[in-house]
Amino acid sequence: MIRARSIARRKGGAISKPHILRDEGGFTHLTEENKLPDDRIAVIRIPVLGDNYTYLLVRGEAAVAVDPGDPGSVLGFLETRGLRLAAVLCTHHHSDHTGGNRALKASTGCGVYGPDDPRIPGLDHPLAEGKQVGIGGDGTFAVQIIAVPGHTRTHVAYRLSAPAVLFSGDCLFPGGCGRVVEGSYAEMFDSLRRLSALPDHIAVLGGHEYTEENLGFALSVEPGSARVAERRRKMAALLKTGEPPPGGVIVEERETNPFLRSDDPLLKRALGMEGASAVEVFTALRKKKDMFVW
Ligand SMILES: [Fe+2]
Repeated sequence: MIRARSIARRKGGAISKPHILRDEGGFTHLTEENKLPDDRIAVIRIPVLGDNYTYLLVRGEAAVAVDPGDPGSVLGFLETRGLRLAAVLCTHHHSDHTGGNRALKASTGCGVYGPDDPRIPGLDHPLAEGKQVGIGGDGTFAVQIIAVPGHTRTHVAYRLSAPAVLFSGDCLFPGGCGRVVEGSYAEMFDSLRRLSALPDHIAVLGGHEYTEENLGFALSVEPGSARVAERRRKMAALLKTGEPPPGGVIVEERETNPFLRSDDPLLKRALGMEGASAVEVFTALRKKKDMFVW
């Protein structure tokens, strides 16, 4: 399980401050509270705009901002830590993921990377699927681009190998998935299946904090699932201690995220869809989630 260490504690239950992410295998070892590692890439999660997350990759003095919806929160963190922004990396064009692009580019001179889509503000490094690119000038930050259309036509996810993380934007969330806005349900299903096939240990870092709602939905469609109930119980216990919400890892998503289990006979039975195809089950689930009241 991925845990997040608060730089500042939650106030009144709201997550409002950046956290340094670490996992129990230790992709980010902290030598003391809140100290960034010198020699490895650290991943910082910054809550912005209510329920969005911007992520910062930091190595030495160089940083990359993933999906900067709000420029101020990124600039504030860079300033207090004495960091230089090398690049912005966007998963898709929605303004809550790109709203900071132009201001960050203007104030730092950074490059803007993303899928080849003119709707991404300030884009000057369009990326092609399947490629591995080194960003940040000297290629310090090597990312693999995975096309995941469905939420939007040109949505991509980014995978790093060290640390083993996946920036999944609004495609895959811990416990859930994004809405199908521009693509077809079949496209979104294929995109999720591609992410589900990644190695077990990769951390899933989505573009929003919806985990409690997602697990609530998962239990509502499959009340008898011991695995989903256990995941929800663990998360509730963690939040009670004042820790920020955890992320997920691929193996956990494969086992408990209903949108990755559309071909599971247990889930099909729970939905009364035993004879349906996996795409049909996914479509029914996603439409049900659109109407779910949390
Ligand atoms: Fe979006």
